[in-house]
Amino acid sequence: MKKIYIKTYGCQMNVYDSERMYELMKPHGYKISETYEDSDLIILNTCHIREKAAEKIYSELGRIAPHKRNSSKKGKQLNIVVAGCVAQAEGKEIVKRQPLVDVVVGPQTYHRLPEILNRLSNKSRKIIDTDFPIENKFDELKKIRMNKNPAAFLSIQEGCDKFCSFCVVPYTRGSEYSRPVLDIISEAKNLIQQGAKEICLLGQNVNAYHGKYRNKTLSLDELIMEVANLSGVERIRYMTSHPVDMTDGLIAAHGKVDKLMPYLHLPVQSGDNNVLKSMNRKYSAENYLKIIDKLKNVREDMAFSSDFIVGFPGETEQAFKNTLKLVDEVKYCQAYSFKYSRRPGTPGSILQGQVAEEIKIERLAELQIILNEQQLSFNKTFVGKEFDILLERRGKMDDQLVGKSPYMQAVHILTKDSKIGDIVKAHILNADKNSLTGSLYN
Ligand code: SAH
Ligand code: SF4
Ligand code: F3S
Repeated sequence: MKKIYIKTYGCQMNVYDSERMYELMKPHGYKISETYEDSDLIILNTCHIREKAAEKIYSELGRIAPHKRNSSKKGKQLNIVVAGCVAQAEGKEIVKRQPLVDVVVGPQTYHRLPEILNRLSNKSRKIIDTDFPIENKFDELKKIRMNKNPAAFLSIQEGCDKFCSFCVVPYTRGSEYSRPVLDIISEAKNLIQQGAKEICLLGQNVNAYHGKYRNKTLSLDELIMEVANLSGVERIRYMTSHPVDMTDGLIAAHGKVDKLMPYLHLPVQSGDNNVLKSMNRKYSAENYLKIIDKLKNVREDMAFSSDFIVGFPGETEQAFKNTLKLVDEVKYCQAYSFKYSRRPGTPGSILQGQVAEEIKIERLAELQIILNEQQLSFNKTFVGKEFDILLERRGKMDDQLVGKSPYMQAVHILTKDSKIGDIVKAHILNADKNSLTGSLYN
């Protein structure tokens, strides 16, 4: 048995791709290793979204390099693969900066990995494969999933045609593509057979989904209904959504489909209309708030999370205040917030009015204090109440299991009678910012 070490950075799409890469390599005699030190193949599945994310890869490669040199001295072949969005964006630059990298493979070509590694063992040269190929990777990937998690990711859409002015994704993942409905259904059935109870439909722009179904095209809400009809699926989620693609049909699905969880990640980025315009987000703060209202009208317990960027070029003190005002109106259950990072090649990077780093730091801190408070008070509203949780993993203590609430909160419980994969009713005893503790409800 050979060993493979896969480290995943970035978004859930990368988590999904990493699982698929392992599924590709397993039939070639590989099993997962938790550390790179004892592996024969190292894959870094990378993210290019912010400068820091990309730089992390080079530091990690720097740590791995001496280990590769030592392995070669001992006559052991260790292959290093850089996959994901840095691979797509930087291609052969990666090998120039770190010559010990053997293979660079993009998000649309990783299905070729077994063949690439085979070529590599025949000739010792670098292989860079970052095409947007004619063949579809999903057709080439294994049809049988090996995912044993009770909550599984299923990629239904890839790429993005929105071109927000700060973002690299349209360049690293290419243009929008929706997988055909029957392929998705067959993968969903396969995941259910392996024990999945929750399916999270993934896409960079998931609610722009429009996949072929016989002689018509289904939208995301129609696909959700199809998935909800599969027996064995208990919970459905989708991410990441763009506000302009929150159609009335999709909003209505939240009121109609019980299996659709009452939680939505709906990134707003900013609460200021001028900033939103120059970000090319194509909605106003008012439009966004209207969508939130409509969702609460169809399902009153809907909880929302978001992404924010502070210090986008042209963000004035007043513009930043407008973001705080929007946050105050929505009351998020959770959120991610970032300082704007200039990404070469994106329109935002050459805009006038770049904001000083000190101001970005201050604004981020101010925003995060409020978001953290909102998260804590959201969690505290559940103390003394109960809801179903899906048990997903072991906790740190004996007999402790960690489950997920309908609203994506982690819930710790002590139990001898339940197992991973069960859905149990938990009575919430305590809440802090990052998790809840509960006991089983009898
Ligand atoms: N498709 C999703 C987001 C994908 S990227 C959407 O449309 O919202 C995830 C998050 O990273 C974004 O929501 C944004 O908040 C952040 N992000 C993207 N580019 C960034 C940049 N250049 N600087 C800082 N944050 C960025
Ligand atoms: Fe990036 Fe905008 Fe596309 Fe999201 S919608 S992936 S932020 S370009
Ligand atoms: Fe990062 Fe690529 Fe995802 S840039 S956020 S890994 S699509």
